[in-house]
Amino acid sequence: MKQVLEYLAANEERFIRELCEYVSFPSVSAQPQHRGDVEACAKWVVAHCQQIGLEAQLCPTNGNPIVLARTPRDPAKQRPHYLVYGHYDVQPAEPFELWKSPPFEPRIQGRSLFGRGASDNKGQNFAHLKAVEAYLKTGTPLPCDLTFVIEGEEEVGCENLPPFLKSHREELRCDGVVISDTGILDLQHPALTYALRGIAAVEVTLHGPSRDLHSGLYGGSVDNPAMALSQMLASLRDKNGRVAIPGFYEDVVKLTAYERKEMARLPFKESAYRKSLGVSALFGEKGFTPNEQRAARPTVEINGLTSGYQGEGSKTIVPSWARAKLTFRLVPNQKPEKILKLVAKHLRKVCPPSVRIEVSQGHGGEPYLVSPRSEAAQAALRALGQAFGHAPVLLREGGSIPIVNDFKKILGVDTLLVGLALPDDNLHSPNEKFSLDAFAAGMRLGAHLWRELGA
Ligand code: BES
Ligand code: MN
Repeated sequence: MKQVLEYLAANEERFIRELCEYVSFPSVSAQPQHRGDVEACAKWVVAHCQQIGLEAQLCPTNGNPIVLARTPRDPAKQRPHYLVYGHYDVQPAEPFELWKSPPFEPRIQGRSLFGRGASDNKGQNFAHLKAVEAYLKTGTPLPCDLTFVIEGEEEVGCENLPPFLKSHREELRCDGVVISDTGILDLQHPALTYALRGIAAVEVTLHGPSRDLHSGLYGGSVDNPAMALSQMLASLRDKNGRVAIPGFYEDVVKLTAYERKEMARLPFKESAYRKSLGVSALFGEKGFTPNEQRAARPTVEINGLTSGYQGEGSKTIVPSWARAKLTFRLVPNQKPEKILKLVAKHLRKVCPPSVRIEVSQGHGGEPYLVSPRSEAAQAALRALGQAFGHAPVLLREGGSIPIVNDFKKILGVDTLLVGLALPDDNLHSPNEKFSLDAFAAGMRLGAHLWRELGA
């Protein structure tokens, strides 16, 4: 172990340079113009895995390729087998003008590496690759067999991974999955995440007149799709911050008193939280704390809202159409399919006859909840403590990693969520960054985790 840790410390500068190279690929899965970049990024990952001593291959899918990389196996040794999952695709970088430096020209400032995907998920996953490199390059026997599954469609709903898991069930048969793609409170509070919210995405479009119309000549006599949509969207939430769709809360499991007590013990300063987000007041479901609201209660969000003229100056029109992109975050035991049905039904009901509605369902993912008391979880907690030098906490988190449910359903295994993202890493926002201290701790985590899990 000493050699592994020394190797990690001695090579940190090179690792940071390599991560910068990785982050410089604009591997944006949502945007068709980046297909080539996505492909190039995947190939870079394969080559890098081979360079550090893994058996790696690019596996084509109907969408973006999946990188599969395994540690060399020793048939004489029966070792536990773990999958390490990560994604090389990133969120769109827009709006570009809000970045202090270009999103795909990684920049180091102090102990932060800025760039789209630096934290979500390139840097976090790369830490695991580097930990394995340290084992392989120092000739230290790995206590576990590992298979890296690094995909390119996480940010657009992982459509092609579940079929891949099914068709590779044999070689992916394992004792568990490890993912670093969640958060920590700060470097003094590393975390094991034991619950994630699920998600259900919907796009709703209202069609009005066959073309944009002069609002002076026609306004008042035809419905305005932007107005109609606004009124419909307003009906999705009540003044207490509850989702106002009939049946929405039917399957929600109540938080236990014990869990609420534990969550309340986590360090949290409301004023600092408010300031860090640039809002003068918080808003959320009445009767719950901000941490409960954002991690353990369901919600609706408007992710995008488009209609009419968005350019400079004014243009007096009744727009021909209006569109909203919505996502619902779900908690146990809500099911995305059922929620999507309720949402569509509600939207159609509140839609006035003066516009034509089109509802299209997007990706969905079930919520995740796993016991933090398992042996593997306890091993992960020990490794976190050793890597960060501080006792870890248990977290529920609001983000979604839908594939963890497929790992459970298809491979029959639980996932250890040991994230490295800091609250100010700006995931999905301009100026995303990754803490180089979290990177270093993440590499040490990899080093300790396989020993703890192999024991
Ligand atoms: N890494 C995030 C999810 C995350 C972040 C979980 C922080 C917990 C804490 C992941 O890459 C992500 O953004 N997922 C999407 C999933 C969606 C596109 C299906 C999300 O949560 O919006
Ligand atoms: Mn993400």
